[in-house]
Amino acid sequence: MKILVTGGTGYIGSHTVLSLQEAGHDVVVIDNLVNSSEESLRRVAELSGKTAEFHNVDLVDEAAVERVFAASPIDAVIHFAGLKAVGESVREPLKYYHNNLVGTLNLIRVMDRHDVRSIVFSSSATVYGEHNPIPYVEKMEIGANNPYGRTKEQIEDILSDLGAADSRWHIALLRYFNPVGAHPSGRIGEDPQGIPNNLVPFIAQVAVGRREKLMVFGGDYDTPDGTCLRDYIHVVDLAEGHVAALNYVAERTGVFRWNLGSGKGSSVLEVLRSFEKAVGQPIPYEITGRRAGDLPAFWADATSALADLSWSTTKTVDQMCEDHWRWQKNNPQGYTA
Ligand code: WQD
Repeated sequence: MKILVTGGTGYIGSHTVLSLQEAGHDVVVIDNLVNSSEESLRRVAELSGKTAEFHNVDLVDEAAVERVFAASPIDAVIHFAGLKAVGESVREPLKYYHNNLVGTLNLIRVMDRHDVRSIVFSSSATVYGEHNPIPYVEKMEIGANNPYGRTKEQIEDILSDLGAADSRWHIALLRYFNPVGAHPSGRIGEDPQGIPNNLVPFIAQVAVGRREKLMVFGGDYDTPDGTCLRDYIHVVDLAEGHVAALNYVAERTGVFRWNLGSGKGSSVLEVLRSFEKAVGQPIPYEITGRRAGDLPAFWADATSALADLSWSTTKTVDQMCEDHWRWQKNNPQGYTA
């Protein structure tokens, strides 16, 4: 099939483009490059031997999105494009609502006009908010506690309402947990702009000498070692989960939602130790105060994706850290040469 991947030059997007090409699909990518580099697609082509069609397009420009669909017949869409920094979304909510919601509405309106009604949406565990018991289960009430998470929740609602109103739609909502790692080749990986918000890219930048030390945000939580527990998932496993969801909804109409996670929690210090093992030397850190908004612990109930998609995570935290380190060591400045 010909699959349109929005946000396909990004971290998860580029790994998913590679998995799609390896599964025999042709890929068209839309990305505005606001938080990524086209170099990632050049490397994906090097790995897969296939070049994805690329359009430097912002989803908020509906006419530009229309031109992409008019130019080539698309069979299905995987929708990653969106702003995704929780802290920034609290400081600039309007920017997040406009970019994430208007961009998505433009995309699905153009899809509908072109009779393209199969979409896999990149949602997030953040929609579960702070009141659900762990492990998180798909049927739970959701309620994000930040503007970024609310845009994900609202897009899930938009797609759920669309699927309920029009039975021609094939819709998968994927709630992922904490993506880390990189393709084992070390040629593609996570390349955050500015200071990384997330744990593993920050550790990787300390290890490669770009940052002085890791600040561990809180060592006094009610967890085995006092640091927060999260469900880390290898980005290649995550990409394969998108291909599995795409295949599932290709056969069925309706709205489906799945957690993509390992079903296990790992602590900040456990991840740090694992990364030190990959690097082969200690990584400087300091335990500081808690970060506002952090939950002590959450992880996925991953049984639905296994039952429906025959998909589960295959890689360990050690493998995630080894692969992330290989990418960072080989690309100390990310994609910018
Ligand atoms: C993990 C743990 C931090 C950085 C976020 C978003 C979520 C999703 C995934 C998009 C926490 C600790 C982190 C650091 C630290 N993104 N930490 N020092 O917060 O679980 O989830 O990314 O969908 O929406 O909220 O991930 O990697 O930021 O933090 O101690 O420099 O690492 O306190 O306990 P998080 P994270």
